[in-house]
Amino acid sequence: MFDTMTVTKAGGALCGAFLIFLLGKWAAEILYHTGPVAHGGEEIAQAYVIDTGAAEGGEAAEEGPDFATVLASADAAAGEKVFNKCKACHKLDGTNGTGPHLDGVLNRAVGGIAGFSYSDGMAGHGGAWDPETLNAFLENPKGNIPGTKMSFAGLKSVEDRANVIAYLQSLGG
Ligand code: HEC
Repeated sequence: MFDTMTVTKAGGALCGAFLIFLLGKWAAEILYHTGPVAHGGEEIAQAYVIDTGAAEGGEAAEEGPDFATVLASADAAAGEKVFNKCKACHKLDGTNGTGPHLDGVLNRAVGGIAGFSYSDGMAGHGGAWDPETLNAFLENPKGNIPGTKMSFAGLKSVEDRANVIAYLQSLGG
């Protein structure tokens, strides 16, 4: 009852069905593939990485040693050279120039020279020029004391700030 033709037809139908199944599976894999895609033999785990900055270790780590540590090993002689940037406005002989004299400025009251006409920001600041206060001011004068009359961009290097503070400190008061 099974002649050759019937067997051949049935076999052909089965093969055809299997081929369509394979083609469908292959097409589905191309369309819906979500896993890592191989490019030129290399597996790309992630197309791109969003940098959240978390790996940088936070801000504190980038700032290096704290100011007290830098000041402890500061070099007053190097600070004298840094003070060249201040000389145009600040004298060290007890007389005022464009800015108030800076001899004895360490621990002097902020805006404390009678007769010098300070900006409102400086006059109303309060406190005294301890090394930390000086450090913050010298890093960014206008950012630290808004409205200051001191037209100076600031000393970006913490070593420069520590050295010039050590120099001013060495002058005594
Ligand atoms: C272009 C002139 C100029 C330069 C340069 C300058 N200053 Fe000043 N500085 C001033 C003036 C003006 C004031 C008064 C600011 C105010 O009243 O707001 C001042 C104020 C200060 C004060 C506060 C003094 C007080 O009696 O309270 C300190 C400290 C100081 N300067 C340090 C420095 C140092 C250190 C440098 C150099 C790294 C420097 N300045 C460079 C003009 C200058």
